[in-house]
Amino acid sequence: INHFPWTRAAAHTLRLKTQEYVAFTSDFISYINIPCYFRECCQPDWISFNPKGLEVDLQQRLFGQHLASRIILKAVNWFINNDNTKKPLVLSLHGPTGTGKNFVSKMIAQNLYKEGMDSKFVHLLISTVHFPHVSQIETYKTQLKQWIKGNVSSCERSMFIFDEVDKMHRGLIDSIKPYLDYYHKVDGVSYRKAIFIFLSNAGGQHIVQTALEFWKTGRKREDIKLCDLESALSLSELNDKSSGLWHSSLVGEHLVDFFVPFLPLEHKHIVQCVLVEMKADGLKPDTSVADRMAEDFIDFPKPERVFSRQGCMNIDSMLIFYV
Ligand SMILES: Nc1ncnc2c1ncn2[C@@H]1O[C@H](COP(=O)(O)OP(=O)(O)OP(=O)(O)O)[C@@H](O)[C@H]1O
Ligand SMILES: [Mg+2]
Repeated sequence: INHFPWTRAAAHTLRLKTQEYVAFTSDFISYINIPCYFRECCQPDWISFNPKGLEVDLQQRLFGQHLASRIILKAVNWFINNDNTKKPLVLSLHGPTGTGKNFVSKMIAQNLYKEGMDSKFVHLLISTVHFPHVSQIETYKTQLKQWIKGNVSSCERSMFIFDEVDKMHRGLIDSIKPYLDYYHKVDGVSYRKAIFIFLSNAGGQHIVQTALEFWKTGRKREDIKLCDLESALSLSELNDKSSGLWHSSLVGEHLVDFFVPFLPLEHKHIVQCVLVEMKADGLKPDTSVADRMAEDFIDFPKPERVFSRQGCMNIDSMLIFYV
């Protein structure tokens, strides 16, 4: 075939076009990073802190926890915005049942990871589920250490939530201590961007006691300061076997950055929880229903009946009996 100059020219142009196209496409692919476009990666597209979102969530969705709300917002903001962190962030959330400890952990996850609690970088470990047998403690220790190391190696901004820590075998928490400490790196891995959250009822009784004293003496709940709860979150209280305590070595060695107290919930907070639940269930919020329910939930201490023993726990399932 005779190539006319114009066909040769056309072929040349076409070839150029193809090359340009290929170059452009590969640039584009690496620019938008196709695998990370569809799948969660340890990158800012998937992990970026929304401070306003957390603030609004804490203010509007968490009821009756002025101290927890303030401490958590400050702590997380400080940690995320600090490029020179010397150790991972370690929060220890304490308080009676159903007062919002898991709820708040979820809020933190939702405002840091695009996928929230479903993120592959957020890990929830429940003592009774994941570490049920005391006899297996040595195996758990090895597995837990390797597992944390593996996760932090693949994403340094990993979050670990340890639930029911007061039911956890003490040696287990001790085994991860090096990761929580001020080390530049442990076995080549840096833990300084990771977040550890421990949840427990430890100190809860003491917190209730303080809240009750405020109530009895007519002082406002919102005036309870962290220093009023100092003894509830003190080393001796947290080590007391009767309060089901646990991580003495963590507490004693100052590896916990912030102790966060959760107060027992009162009538008006239960009402708020019920109204939220009604809305979530597609029901018309009805304060008389919420009031009746709160009446039944507020059950201790006797005879005053000031707080709800189960907090806002199980409001969703109990609601059917009231509407
Ligand atoms: N302070 C609160 N404000 C708003 N909702 C709350 C609050 N506390 C609890 N709730 C509601 O009750 C549910 C149960 O609370 P959550 O699981 O956070 O309790 P908890 O403090 O972890 O209790 P436990 O010590 O028994 O584990 C939450 O999912 C949330 O819907
Ligand atoms: Mg919980």
